[in-house]
Amino acid sequence: MKVVNMGCDPSEIYRPDIDLQNGKPKENFRNYKEGPLMDRVFNTYLLMHTNQTVAFVRKKNEEYGGCGLHQMTIMEALDLLDKVVDESDPDVDFPNSYHAYQTAEGIRKAHPDKDWFHLVGLLHDMGKVLALLGEPQWAVVGDTFPVGCEVQDSVVLRDSTFHNNPDMKNPLYNSKYGIYQPNCGLEKVLMSWGHDEYMYKVMKRNNFALPQEAFYMIRFHSFYPWHTGGDYMHLCNEEDLRMLPWVREFNKFDLYTKCENLPEPQELKPYYQSLIDKYCPGQLQW
Ligand SMILES: [Fe+2]
Ligand SMILES: [Fe+2]
Repeated sequence: MKVVNMGCDPSEIYRPDIDLQNGKPKENFRNYKEGPLMDRVFNTYLLMHTNQTVAFVRKKNEEYGGCGLHQMTIMEALDLLDKVVDESDPDVDFPNSYHAYQTAEGIRKAHPDKDWFHLVGLLHDMGKVLALLGEPQWAVVGDTFPVGCEVQDSVVLRDSTFHNNPDMKNPLYNSKYGIYQPNCGLEKVLMSWGHDEYMYKVMKRNNFALPQEAFYMIRFHSFYPWHTGGDYMHLCNEEDLRMLPWVREFNKFDLYTKCENLPEPQELKPYYQSLIDKYCPGQLQW
């Protein structure tokens, strides 16, 4: 793999006069209809949408909820991401550790005064270490969606991947609200299990000294049907809507800093280590 210095200029990302994101037309990101990685992406979502059920999500929340299975530092977890290539991502075919630095550096350039936000960029996908702890990719990566209620239209591959999910035959889970109350708040919603919720639990368990926005961005960054699709608003409370702009702000960097010019981790590590020391130091419970 060719590793070169960061070549993506995030200042180009938000210029309204050009529609290229790191040399790629904006509409070419998140293309789930065609592309060289489409077979791999489709199969990951087919497995995810077949197997993510209310019962499965409850089981995983219980299994990982206590974060008592492993101990490691943030940098050790980041190094593990060198071994993870996200099989649900149509835009990336390189290890996730580079994506962590790309996202963080994009945020750092656009929001130089918010060091906690830079760290969110680095941390946001760290829950993908689940893939190295024995979880299949369909239970780790990809967009998330609420289980226990009707699947809304903006869920990726909604019409071609849910037919074998047993929850689709349970009338309790197939009304607009399903097992939830109107505007109950996303806190009360069971999201399909994956790296978002896992990392959120790790952050809570280890008392990360980050603002609420950071917890929110990490917990719901893969909930595209909500933050980008505009669905599931009927489950949100006021707090969710207050946090939504932050999740959207984060998403710009998560998505549009993806490019093949890879950053040089060794040059960036000292800065991010200083943020780790400030907000989430030492051995952590996972
Ligand atoms: Fe992610
Ligand atoms: Fe990401």
